[in-house]
Amino acid sequence: MADDAPLLELGPLQKSFGTSPVLRGVSLTVKKGEFMTLLGPSGCGKTTTLRIIAGFESPDSGRVKLNGEDVTDQAPYERDVHTVFQHYALFPHLDVANNIAFGMRMDKVPEDEIKKRIPEALSMVKLAGFETRRVSSLSGGQMQRVALARAIAGRPSVLLLDEPLGALDLKLRKEMQLELKNLQKKLGMAFVYVTHDQEEAMTMSDRIAVFNQGRIEQIGTPGEIYEMPKTSFVADFIGGANIFSARVLPGDPGRAHLLIEDEHEVDVPLDPGEVLPKPGKSVKVGIRPERVKVYYKDELPFGLLRFDATLKDSVFLGDACQIYLQMFKKAPDHRTIAWAGGDRYAVHDDLDVPVFAAVQPDDVYILEAEE
Ligand SMILES: Nc1ncnc2c1ncn2[C@@H]1O[C@H](COP(=O)(O)OP(=O)(O)OP(=O)(O)O)[C@@H](O)[C@H]1O
Ligand SMILES: [Mg+2]
Repeated sequence: MADDAPLLELGPLQKSFGTSPVLRGVSLTVKKGEFMTLLGPSGCGKTTTLRIIAGFESPDSGRVKLNGEDVTDQAPYERDVHTVFQHYALFPHLDVANNIAFGMRMDKVPEDEIKKRIPEALSMVKLAGFETRRVSSLSGGQMQRVALARAIAGRPSVLLLDEPLGALDLKLRKEMQLELKNLQKKLGMAFVYVTHDQEEAMTMSDRIAVFNQGRIEQIGTPGEIYEMPKTSFVADFIGGANIFSARVLPGDPGRAHLLIEDEHEVDVPLDPGEVLPKPGKSVKVGIRPERVKVYYKDELPFGLLRFDATLKDSVFLGDACQIYLQMFKKAPDHRTIAWAGGDRYAVHDDLDVPVFAAVQPDDVYILEAEE
């Protein structure tokens, strides 16, 4: 297999439980050695997709290909994948070594090879010397490491992980995120990793597939997803965004001339290849709070798009200051949020004063067309 050929190919997967469609055409490819994360809110179909890859669930339509071979009709144990679940699913009556050996014995790996792989896998998850410990004597983080050691010892082409750190406390989770990412790099093994935590996805992934209601809204590197969100769902789910309506006005090629909320006219550059609906149509636009700068009216921000706004509230949160703005007369309740750095002096005390909200032109993201 060529190195850039996909290791895993899915799609387009359809799946319903009873009458409710759960997957509505999910397609995805994962490359050799890639860390792919399935990210999305609860109930959007992440686990169902993972279970279809593992073979615990069959799709109503669509195929799963692994190493170029169609495995859709194969049983889980016939597939070159291994799954790590949120709850460790270890055997409490066996010691660590026998837990790790179990799957390899099922796969008929020779005993002397198993003996070699156990300490190897344990040292990779930083549990060297734990072979004879009883599982019941381990902490949560240690149990999850044993589950990982068991998974990597079998050397599958693809490791599937369903919120494997979800049961751990925040501090341990953060440590394990980095460890897991390093381990994945060292092994060169492809990971398909499920989480609903956007920060976790940003930290660990080579690429992220953002799920919403049984569909993938966007696939890209963390940078692409953050810097070039394609839909308001993605913009808001990853990092948060102020979302507005805008009408497309006639403009120059390569640029978008927009009237935001019937009030503010802006001219912003399009991304390469980005296509804008025809003049007269409406689109959603997004602006990230951390890109909105607030200026008093006697200051003149240079080279920025300026919006007249009213300062409504300002809250100091320690590491940042959150500023609420009213940017549009027509929607008096519409509060735009700006973030200022963690400087106590960024807090504005005089409220209800006119200000400028200012952004770089390329910080206005054009999202999906409106009906
Ligand atoms: N065996 C099943 N029978 C009926 N409905 C199911 C079954 N498995 C999943 N569903 C439903 O399918 C939808 C998607 O479930 P899935 O477990 O894939 O979501 P998820 O994205 O993993 O969510 P979470 O983040 O909460 O784990 C949910 O509405 C769920 O209730
Ligand atoms: Mg799930």
